Amino acid sequence: MIQESIQAVILAAGKATRFHTGRTKLIEPLCGQEMILYSTQLFKALQIPITVVVGYQKELVQQVLTTTYPNDSLSFVVQEEQKGTGHALLCTSHTWHADHIIVINGDMPLIHADIMQQLLATHHARNAAISFVVAHNTQPNTGYGRIVREGTTVQIIEAKEFSGDVAQHSLINAGIYVIKREFLEQHSAHIRTLPHGNEFYITDLVKIASDNHFVIEMLEVPFDRVRGINTLHELHDAELVQRAEIIRYWMARGVRFASPEYTYVDLQVTIGAGTIIGAGVHLLKHTTIGKNCTIKAFSVIENSTLADGVIVHPHSVINNAHIKECVQIGPFAHIKEQVTIEDHAVVGNFVEMKETQFGARSKAKHLSYLGNATIGSDVNIGAGTIVCNHDGTGKQETNIKEGAYIGSNATLIAPLTIEEHAFIAAGSTITNPVPAHALAIGRARQLNKHGYAITLKNKRAYKSLTFNAAQQTTNDTNTPDHS
Ligand code: UD1
Ligand code: MG
Repeated sequence: MIQESIQAVILAAGKATRFHTGRTKLIEPLCGQEMILYSTQLFKALQIPITVVVGYQKELVQQVLTTTYPNDSLSFVVQEEQKGTGHALLCTSHTWHADHIIVINGDMPLIHADIMQQLLATHHARNAAISFVVAHNTQPNTGYGRIVREGTTVQIIEAKEFSGDVAQHSLINAGIYVIKREFLEQHSAHIRTLPHGNEFYITDLVKIASDNHFVIEMLEVPFDRVRGINTLHELHDAELVQRAEIIRYWMARGVRFASPEYTYVDLQVTIGAGTIIGAGVHLLKHTTIGKNCTIKAFSVIENSTLADGVIVHPHSVINNAHIKECVQIGPFAHIKEQVTIEDHAVVGNFVEMKETQFGARSKAKHLSYLGNATIGSDVNIGAGTIVCNHDGTGKQETNIKEGAYIGSNATLIAPLTIEEHAFIAAGSTITNPVPAHALAIGRARQLNKHGYAITLKNKRAYKSLTFNAAQQTTNDTNTPDHS
C-alpha cells in the first residue's frame, strides 16, 4: 500500500479516430477485459483514488466502470470537447487534492503495478516536479512522442512534429506521469497548443519543467509493458503479449497446452493443475476449469464452471453452464444458458441443452434437444429425443424423473412430467403425463399385410408397362410422315 498523498487521473475521453470502428477504444476488450479496466484495477490494487476523464461516448465508458464498481466512488470528469491530453488533465483541476497526481493514458493496458510503484519511489526519492515512464522503440512512424535532449533541456516531441532519427532518439514517452500538485497548479495554464492544431499536449509540461529548471525524472521500462493502443493493429499486438503471459502463468501452475499459440485464455479464467487444453480452445470471460480436465480441440467455453475431471470432446460450445465432476461432453455438443450437468453425466454428439438441469449419471449420447427441462439422475435420453418446449407463445417445462428411459426419436411435448422409472417407447410423441414405472407408447400401431409386397411389386410392373406403351403411342403420333 502506498502511504503518500496521491491521486490518479485516467485519460479516457479521446475519440479513438485511428481505430476506425466508430466506437471508443477504451471499452474494447483485451483478453476478455475492457481496456479501461486495466488501469482502474491497477489503482484499486494500490488503493489510490481515481478520477476518470470521459468525453467521447462517455456513457459507454461510464457504464463499464459503474457496472464493475457498483458501490464505488470512482469520480468522473467530463471533457466536453476533445482538445488533447493536456486539456483533459486541465478539466480535472477542481479535483486536485493530493500532493502528487498520477496521470495515465487510458489506452495502455499492459502496465503493471510494480512500474507504478517504482515511478512513485523515484519521484519521491528525487523530489521531482514531474516523473514519467519511458521505453526504447526504434520503429519509425509510430505514434509515440520521443524524448529529445538538447544541452540541459528535455522535451517530448510528438510523432507529428518529430523529423529526427529514431535510432538516435529511441526513447519514447509511455504516457504515465507523476506530477507535484504544486508544480501543476503553477504551470498547467502555460501548456501551449501546437502551431498546426488546437490541441493541448500534456507532454508540454516536461518542456515547461525543463525550461524552469525543475527536477525531471524518467523511469525506463521494457516497451512491451507500456504499449499504447491507437489502432486495431496495436490492439492485436498488445493482446498477443497479454495472451502469451496468461498462458505462461497457467503453464507454471501445471496446465498443459497442446498448442499455446492457438489457444485463447481470457484474463478472468482459472484452470486447475493437471488439466490439458487442446489446440484452438477458447476459454472466455469468467470461466473456471477444475483439476485434471481435458478440453479437446476447438471447444469454446464461456462464463462457465467445470469441476475436476471433466472431459470436453472437440468442437463443443459451452456457455453459462455448471458442469460437475467427471462429466463428459461432446464432440459437437452445444450447452447454453443456465445449464447444470451433474456428476458423471454423459452428453454426446449433436446434443443441445438450454436452461436445463441434467441429473447425475444421466446420458444423452446422440442428437437431442433438451430445453427448459429438469432431468433426474440415471435417466437415459435416446438418440433423436426432442423436447418441444415452445408452444408458440412461450416456454413450457419438462420434468423427467430419476431412472426414466426415453427411447430413441421420442418427441416430448411440454408441459410434461415423466415420473420415476417410466419407459417411453422409441418413436413416441408424448403429450400426457406418464406415471412412475409405466410404459408409454405414443405412435400409430403397425399393421402387417401378409404377401402384399408381391402384389405391390406386380402393380408397379404393370404401371410401368402401360406408361411405356402410352409414351410410344405419343411419340408415333408426333413423328412427321415423310412417306
Ligand atoms: C500520447 C502522448 C505521446 C505518448 C503516447 C503513448 C500526448 C500529446 N502524446 O500520444 O507522447 O508517446 O501517448 O502511448 O499526450 N484523451 C483524452 N482527451 C483528449 C485526447 C486524448 O482524454 O482530448 C485520452 C485518450 O482517450 C487516450 C489518452 O488520452 O486514452 C492518450 O491519447 P492518445 O490520442 O492515444 O495519445 P497518443 O497519440 O497515443
Ligand atoms: Mg495513445
